[in-house]
Amino acid sequence: MIVVDALSKQFGQFQAVDEISFEVQRGEVVGFLGPNGAGKSTTMKMLTCYLPPTSGNAEVNGFSINSQRLQVQEQIGYLPESAPSYNEMQVEEFLSFIGEVRGYTGSELRRRVGRVLELTSLQEARKQIIDTLSKGFRQRTCLAQALIHDPPVLILDEPTDGLDPNQKHEVRELIRRMSEERTILVSTHILEEVEAVCTRALIISEGRLVGLGTPDELLSQSIYRNAITLSVSGVNAETLLEDLNGLEQVYSVERLEDMPNGAITVRVFPKDRESISSELEKFLKKKKMSIEQFFVERGRLDEVFRKLTLGN
Ligand SMILES: Nc1ncnc2c1ncn2[C@@H]1O[C@H](COP(=O)(O)OP(=O)(O)O)[C@@H](O)[C@H]1O
Ligand SMILES: [Mg+2]
Repeated sequence: MIVVDALSKQFGQFQAVDEISFEVQRGEVVGFLGPNGAGKSTTMKMLTCYLPPTSGNAEVNGFSINSQRLQVQEQIGYLPESAPSYNEMQVEEFLSFIGEVRGYTGSELRRRVGRVLELTSLQEARKQIIDTLSKGFRQRTCLAQALIHDPPVLILDEPTDGLDPNQKHEVRELIRRMSEERTILVSTHILEEVEAVCTRALIISEGRLVGLGTPDELLSQSIYRNAITLSVSGVNAETLLEDLNGLEQVYSVERLEDMPNGAITVRVFPKDRESISSELEKFLKKKKMSIEQFFVERGRLDEVFRKLTLGN
C-alpha cells in the first residue's frame, strides 16, 4: 500500500531524512517512532505530497509522489502535526468546506459529513466554533477532516500529542476501529501507543531507519526480555542469590528492594533472553520456597528505543 524507496530530504546543508526505505502492507497499522527532530513529520509531509523529496520516491496505492500528486492525495487522509484547522469555523461547516474541496456537493456531501461526525463522535459539537473546542475535540475534528473522502490510507502525525489519558485512550480506540479497513501510518514518541495499536513499528533517528519489527520483535531485543522479578519469604538472601546464580539457564541476578513484608526480591536475567519461568518455578518448589511475587517481563520498549536511537 505504501512503498518508500530511498526517500531523502535536505533543508539547505541539513539532511533531515536520509535514504529511508520501507513498505506498509494493506491493513497494517505501522508506528513511526523516533525522538523529536528525527524526521518523522518531514517523511510524512513527503508521503502526502506537501513537501517534494530531494531524492528518492514513494508510491501510495501504486501512485508516485513525484509524478501523480493528485492521485496520491486522493488515497490519503492526513492528520498533520498539531491538528491545524480553521479556528473561526464551526465543526460541521469546516467539514463541509473540506468535503467541497474534495469535490463533493449536495446530499453526497451531507452524507459524508454526517458519517465522519458519527465516526469521530462529534455530533454534539457540530455547531461549536473550532476555536472554543477542547484539544481532544479539535484533534477529532481534524481526524474527521482526514476521513471525509473515505481514503484507504491514513497518515497521522502524533494524533495523541497533548491529550489527557482518557482522550489518548479514545483516539487509540478510534485508530483501532479505523484500522479494520484502512492502512495506517502513525507517528508518535509515546511507546505504549505502539504496543497498544501497531502491528509493526519503524524507528528512525537522525533521518535514518534504525529499527523495524513487530512490537514483540522489538521487545525481544531488550535486556529485560524474559527477565523475572521474584519475591520469596522465609529465606536467606545470600543463599537465594547463590542458588539462583548457580542455575544453568541464569545469566545474572540482581537484588532489588525487599517487599514491605520483608520478602526478598530479586530480578533474574536469563541466558540469551530465553524463557526460564517453568525451570525457575520448579526450582523454587523443590526448595519449598514461598513465592510472594513472580513477574515475567516481555521486554522494555523504552530501553530498545534508547539503544537504537542513541546507540547505547
Ligand atoms: N522547513 C524546514 N526547514 C529547515 N529545517 C527543517 C524544516 N522542517 C524540519 N526541519 C528540521 O528537520 C529535522 C526533522 O524534523 P521533523 O521531521 O519535524 O522531525 P520529527 O517530526 O521527527 O520531530 C529537524 O531537525 C527540523 O528542525
Ligand atoms: Mg514531528
